[in-house]
Amino acid sequence: MRIILLGSPGAGKGTQAKFIAEHYALPIISTGDMLRAAVSQGTPLGQHAKTLMESGQLLPDELMIQLVEERIRAPDCEAGFLLDGFPRTLPQAEALRRQKVPIDLVIEIATEDEEIVRRLSGRRIHPASGRVYHLHYHPPRIPNRDDQTGEVLVQREDDQEVTIRERLRVYHQQTKPLIAYYRDWQRTGDAHAPAYVQVDGSASVDHVRQQIIEVLNPWSWAQSRK
Ligand code: AP5
Repeated sequence: MRIILLGSPGAGKGTQAKFIAEHYALPIISTGDMLRAAVSQGTPLGQHAKTLMESGQLLPDELMIQLVEERIRAPDCEAGFLLDGFPRTLPQAEALRRQKVPIDLVIEIATEDEEIVRRLSGRRIHPASGRVYHLHYHPPRIPNRDDQTGEVLVQREDDQEVTIRERLRVYHQQTKPLIAYYRDWQRTGDAHAPAYVQVDGSASVDHVRQQIIEVLNPWSWAQSRK
């Protein structure tokens, strides 16, 4: 299966991606995680990305397209992958289409902006593993410690309220048009168009997961019969 997870910052894409990847044995291509790794390693890409990410802005399309195209060509992506955070602009979506990268399904996790602010301002992460917690919705067993390693959790630089609101502004302007883009493409009846499904992201983590299972199980079953 080749899947795109779409949704505003903090909609729960990373949370659900971890589950989908484990359950359906798919590699996750998370552009945010790739960029954060580059920042912490201090590579030229990371140095370029740091200021833009901290201020809630997107990186240039050409750079992101090249990054993802290289990743998709890796052997572990031959049987499928899960894109989390890409495409995020119309030019990025057009690049995938132009390169004829087959996508089976686009899953949008739809969530209201005020809920996003609550979620992101309470988010804490374990940088080494990417495990994600929330102070109230998904607290660690020991306050501020990772459940598996006991290491200290941190707040992402871009999870300050003023930056969260800027990321939401950028989302509405540059990423939300992808919803119409994929819906319209599906309506054309083009055999290459991915199916488009929206799930209710305002529900609990478990309920969102259940909605995704209901979408994916028939797909994975059909693929296993091919
Ligand atoms: P990225 O890391 O992709 O950030 P994002 O899209 O803003 O997504 P988040 O990781 O913030 O949120 P999420 O949807 O994964 O939510 P999560 O599961 O953690 O990108 C960061 C930056 O990199 C961008 O701003 C940009 O600068 C750059 N970038 C990346 N890709 C790019 C691209 N393609 N082009 C250009 N630039 C790019 O959940 C959030 C919180 O809510 C957690 O605390 C979680 O525990 C909690 N939670 C999750 N689900 C629920 C639920 N159902 N109920 C209650 N709480 C929940």
